[in-house]
Amino acid sequence: MKVECSIEEVFGLAKARLDDCGLLLTSVGMDGKANVMTIGWGLTGRLWGQTVFMVAVRPSRYTFELIEETGEFTVNVPPERELDDAVAYCGKVSGRDKDKLGESGFEVEKGETVRSPLVSCCVAHLECRVIGKSRLVPELLSEEVKKSYASGNFHTLYFGKPLRILVEK
Ligand SMILES: Cc1cc2nc3c(=O)[nH]c(=O)nc-3n(C[C@H](O)[C@H](O)[C@H](O)COP(=O)(O)O)c2cc1C
Repeated sequence: MKVECSIEEVFGLAKARLDDCGLLLTSVGMDGKANVMTIGWGLTGRLWGQTVFMVAVRPSRYTFELIEETGEFTVNVPPERELDDAVAYCGKVSGRDKDKLGESGFEVEKGETVRSPLVSCCVAHLECRVIGKSRLVPELLSEEVKKSYASGNFHTLYFGKPLRILVEK
């Protein structure tokens, strides 16, 4: 059973998966077509007097287009191991070319506060609305960090306000 909870209850789980196979981020276009992509970067903390969950998305991603269109996303924490292959697939194929949610066999359910779906088999979920964003620019990055951007494509940081947080109990 999934129950609503605080960010503290899910961040430990989310961090463990970020350090491992990654998390699943869903987004949806204005046409209602949903997509899923793997993320390895994510932060939580406080900004603007509220809790935020930040994700970093490169502009080349189809996900980037969808978040720009609708200003929302969900973050889904996969259970340990059993989804690793599907998570890897969602991290190398683009939703421009494939229906990744369908091909991965993921059951989805409606979010309550956003149109992006939740991936049902995951153990925790955040429904987020984008309340701010920022582009990374090379002149503000160290030489060490710039090595991640040999071909440009600098991430946009999306600051999501978690409107609903769920964990499996
Ligand atoms: C473990 C892992 C972590 C990833 N983390 C991110 C990330 O945080 N941000 C990002 O833009 N791409 C990340 N990617 C790459 C995207 O998931 C990949 O390019 C994906 O195919 C994009 O899908 P889309 O075009 O359907 O949005 C990651 C890939 C893997 C395998």
